[in-house]
Amino acid sequence: MNIARRSLALSLLTALLILTTAACISHEQRDAEALAPPPSDAPYRNPNLSTDARVEDLLGRMTLEEKLGQMTQVDIGYLSDPRDVGRYLLGSVLSGGNSNPADNSPDGWADLYDDLQQQALGTRLGIPILYGIDAVHGHNNLQDATVFPHNIGLGATRNPELVERIARATALEMAGTGMRWNFGPAIGVPRDTRWGRTYEGFSENPQLVGDLGAAAIRGYQTGASTESAWVLATPKHWVGDGGTEGGIDQGDTALPLAELVELHGSPYRPAIAAGARVIMASYNSWNGEKVHGSRSLLTDVLRDEFGFNGMILSDWGAIYQLPGSESEQTLQAIDAGIDMNMVPDDYRSFISTMRTLVETGALSAERIDDAVRRILTIKFDMGLFEEPFADRSHQATIRSDEHLELGRQAVRESLVLLRNENETLPIREDIGHIHVTGRFADDIGAQAGGWTIDWQGVRGNVIAGSSIRQAITNAAPDGTEVSFAGSTADGADTREHADLIVAVIGEAPYAEFEGDRNNLNLHPTDRALLEAVSDGETPVVVVLLSGRPLVLTDQLPMMDALVAAWLPGSEGDGVADVLFGTAAPSGRLPITWPRSNDQIPIQRDGDRGGLWSRDDARAAGYGVSEASDSSLSPDELAALPLFPYGFGLGYEPGDK
Ligand code: GLC
Repeated sequence: MNIARRSLALSLLTALLILTTAACISHEQRDAEALAPPPSDAPYRNPNLSTDARVEDLLGRMTLEEKLGQMTQVDIGYLSDPRDVGRYLLGSVLSGGNSNPADNSPDGWADLYDDLQQQALGTRLGIPILYGIDAVHGHNNLQDATVFPHNIGLGATRNPELVERIARATALEMAGTGMRWNFGPAIGVPRDTRWGRTYEGFSENPQLVGDLGAAAIRGYQTGASTESAWVLATPKHWVGDGGTEGGIDQGDTALPLAELVELHGSPYRPAIAAGARVIMASYNSWNGEKVHGSRSLLTDVLRDEFGFNGMILSDWGAIYQLPGSESEQTLQAIDAGIDMNMVPDDYRSFISTMRTLVETGALSAERIDDAVRRILTIKFDMGLFEEPFADRSHQATIRSDEHLELGRQAVRESLVLLRNENETLPIREDIGHIHVTGRFADDIGAQAGGWTIDWQGVRGNVIAGSSIRQAITNAAPDGTEVSFAGSTADGADTREHADLIVAVIGEAPYAEFEGDRNNLNLHPTDRALLEAVSDGETPVVVVLLSGRPLVLTDQLPMMDALVAAWLPGSEGDGVADVLFGTAAPSGRLPITWPRSNDQIPIQRDGDRGGLWSRDDARAAGYGVSEASDSSLSPDELAALPLFPYGFGLGYEPGDK
């Protein structure tokens, strides 16, 4: 190469070297500046500035690592070291159904939360975490909280004001333990009662679901969002969770878009109007496509058509049900509209996958900023930067007299009287001997159902409250003998001579897909018990504890009275209030009661309004077991549900 050309090459090389060095200096300098703690008076730390201004200032200071950490939610059970909150700059932690702190007391929860919050505040930018739980019927995993009826029982009350009060009470009991994010209310619309999550739904009627879901959101999010008992609600699961074929949990909901939106999406309109800031996406598929990967449902419909501008949270590991590699799953879900990933376990892999997707340009920086903006907006609006720790003063509300009375009222109003032959109920004041029996008669855990202490619930009187047996004993008139015999394994009952028998039967606790069933017959033990106690002389009152209507047509003649109690929670005293007539039954079915398994799924939308009279019911063919009891032909009778949506008997005037 001649001298001239060589010197040109050298000059170019020198220039390139200078530029590269400069770039490196500015790159390193920028990193150095970026990684330096921000000034204490940085705008994002100023609560007098608007949330938007604080978000933009903070976002502009964040590195990619810090942004990706905010989009990461980890279950406490998988957080191998609390210091990982700081190391991986995590934005959120949750306690799933089985992830209680070892010390399951109010201070145990609050200490766990505050310790993790300290880790977050110790990071360069000091962004507080959000901690989420499933407090779906009270602060239900906390030992000895007030456990309220599950949603299906609240649907029977038709009482939005009551639902709002329950949500408020739940928020207060949560806040005292540092928990200010609730993965609720579930506003699924259960259309096939074989679904294990039927009881998490308020009703088969989307309108009622929307009314009660909005009331719950108002209750959780009572007052200014910066208040320490303002709890972030999460209507879930968008969209179609209650409409899967066969009621298979996480299955496929095959509907035209318009019908999907009308039946299963419509409750989200009042939810958004009520101030929902987060919506959880649903496991199910829609016409074969997983919702978690559907840009059409998450962005085009929920964000653009419904106008939702909050955060979309994935469900537990749901992203990894999408087709393809982890990288393809992650890209599809985030691009579709998921803002925060409830990983909930391998957070290192999620962050690493996300980093690669951004660095290769597969995921745009704008999409990351869009998600992080939504997350930070909520954190600023909740005042977490100013008050990041638990406000333990609210612990005084846990099982307070006010909350217990509220729980008892909710139980009373949730009960649906489905049959009451010969005015068996209310129990007469001069009754001599009541015999209480049934495998769930003395079992507060069974009353509470799933999502209680553990994901799948618990059995026995292992939480504070009153079992139905205890409630009847407490409420029985002076001089009345109350005897008890839980049913033996084969359902036979060592009953003594009694003036009345109360048999408490139904379903043992379950949650999610663990509760999916392909037939809804009464349990054999319960059927055997009814055979054993119904002698045709002593009246039998059945109290049914179940997450949904059960098929009991053949057993109906053995029941002089039947009360659907759903899953009433810890305050069994409310059941005795109705059995003894202290309160009259007022609940009405929020869901159709099938006459046979072959009828399922069955809905009869359209609500009669008030309570039915026994004569009305008999004339209409409802609640009768033989065609002779009704003017309808056997075929007409067979086509009817056993009890229709909206059905419920009261106590006729003079009953006592
Ligand atoms: C579960 C449920 C969801 C719950 C989440 C966290 O799988 O689908 O309702 O909020 O995980 O426990």
